[in-house]
Amino acid sequence: MSIKLIDPLLISNEDSRKQAILKRFHPPRPEWYEKLLALFLAKGMKAYEAEVAGYKAELFSRLRGRVNKVLELGIGTGPNLKYYAGDGDVHVYGVDPNQKMEKYAQEAAVAAGLPPTNFNFIQMVGEALPISDASMDAVVGTLVLCSVRDVNLALQEVKRVLKPGGLYIFMEHVAAQDRTALKFLQNILDPLQQIVFDGCHLTRQTRKHISEAGFSDVNIKMASVPTFFHIRPHIYGTARK
Ligand SMILES: C[S@@+](CC[C@H](N)C(=O)[O-])C[C@H]1O[C@@H](n2cnc3c(N)ncnc32)[C@H](O)[C@@H]1O
Repeated sequence: MSIKLIDPLLISNEDSRKQAILKRFHPPRPEWYEKLLALFLAKGMKAYEAEVAGYKAELFSRLRGRVNKVLELGIGTGPNLKYYAGDGDVHVYGVDPNQKMEKYAQEAAVAAGLPPTNFNFIQMVGEALPISDASMDAVVGTLVLCSVRDVNLALQEVKRVLKPGGLYIFMEHVAAQDRTALKFLQNILDPLQQIVFDGCHLTRQTRKHISEAGFSDVNIKMASVPTFFHIRPHIYGTARK
């Protein structure tokens, strides 16, 4: 059974239930591994973020000054906050199973100009968002559908928490075209990538998953982001509930 906290949009799970959900969708990793991942995202993604800055600026301009409640799926260290969080009265709910991301995400929220009371880091997975139905103006997800265990379930959760007409904004790396050298390489590297990068899959057909998830106004574009050659093919876009 779940109980409501002071923030009426947040659903509190009993600790045993929370641990059971985490165990199912994102089993506990060693502390050093989680710390290392957080450190890598905080320090090792600068070139990548510079490459995608133009796409992100375009995408997140859809939110600036127009939204109040935003959920970020797999927020990590919070690299997107600077694009949408500083304007007006935005409240961000950042969901991520890796608690070691929180420190960096909090710092990014402050740097983006978000008052501390307007940012919640929630240790949970995208497949079971502890958020009330139809409560979010927007959901943001970047480089996360590669990592969730159940993509379709996570997308159903995105739809559940969005208000009618609410916007889902995404940018994801995806499988290369079939019968290309890159796809061949992705198939070979995929098992190693999952071990080293916390379950990240190289060959997901994420465009298909989003297109078939039952959103309206689905708008998906392709991008080539060369920083890391094996995740070069990206999609980015928006979809509405
Ligand atoms: C490659 S990182 C991307 C982080 C951030 N969105 C960004 O663009 O830098 C993937 C993130 O997804 C998180 N993650 C892994 N499994 C998840 C799940 N089942 N639900 C939500 N987030 C998950 C990881 O902890 C990590 O922070």
